[in-house]
Amino acid sequence: MNADIQTGRLLLRRWKAEDREPFAQLNADPRVMQFFPSCLSREESNRSADAIERKIEERGFGLYAAELREDQAFIGFIGLSVPGFHAHFTPCVEIGWRLAAAYWNRGLATEGANGVVRHAFDVLGLDALVSFTTERNLPSRRVMEKIGMTRDPADDFDHPNLPEGHSLRKHVLYRLFRP
Ligand SMILES: CC(C)(COP(=O)(O)OP(=O)(O)OC[C@H]1O[C@@H](n2cnc3c(N)ncnc32)[C@H](O)[C@@H]1OP(=O)(O)O)[C@@H](O)C(=O)NCCC(=O)NCCS
Repeated sequence: MNADIQTGRLLLRRWKAEDREPFAQLNADPRVMQFFPSCLSREESNRSADAIERKIEERGFGLYAAELREDQAFIGFIGLSVPGFHAHFTPCVEIGWRLAAAYWNRGLATEGANGVVRHAFDVLGLDALVSFTTERNLPSRRVMEKIGMTRDPADDFDHPNLPEGHSLRKHVLYRLFRP
């Protein structure tokens, strides 16, 4: 990323060493990880932050650290990633988000995601974005809808990294095209 993405309340930026502690805390919170197979240990959380930062370095975009401008608190990530699995909609660029529970339901994910969408289309020149989540993740689906993404039920898919019969396997796909 050449420049940070700024919105009214958020700064989306490269990761700092100090982000590791609050990131490990949110990854250990069962509320945050309700729609993922499991919470992350501190080691897993740190490895995940390493991988995120490495990908930003390689690609010039990625899952940015989200900082609240009023007090510089690290609250999670909002940004872009490239799914590593094969599905009917890959290759693609995905927009995604994960915030600490204390900051939910204030419109922050939507605000940051709108900034990322503008960056993706206007600065990176991407033509389309997808987002996906397990069917029951209604807050995340709501963010997708609020940023103007649309879902065609024909795009729904079983996540290939989850075993058959897993309660999170059924996923919905949302798309957004450059205006
Ligand atoms: C998904 C997530 C990032 C949303 O962050 P947020 O800052 O709370 O999002 P916003 O405030 O912008 O919007 C949340 C919307 O979900 C709605 N919502 C919250 N809980 C809900 C529920 N149980 N059922 C239905 N809608 C719900 C809110 O009312 C709000 O919609 P509204 O503005 O129309 O009222 C946050 O919940 C999170 O980090 N979850 C855990 C990680 C995760 O699941 N990430 C996505 C993986 S695909």
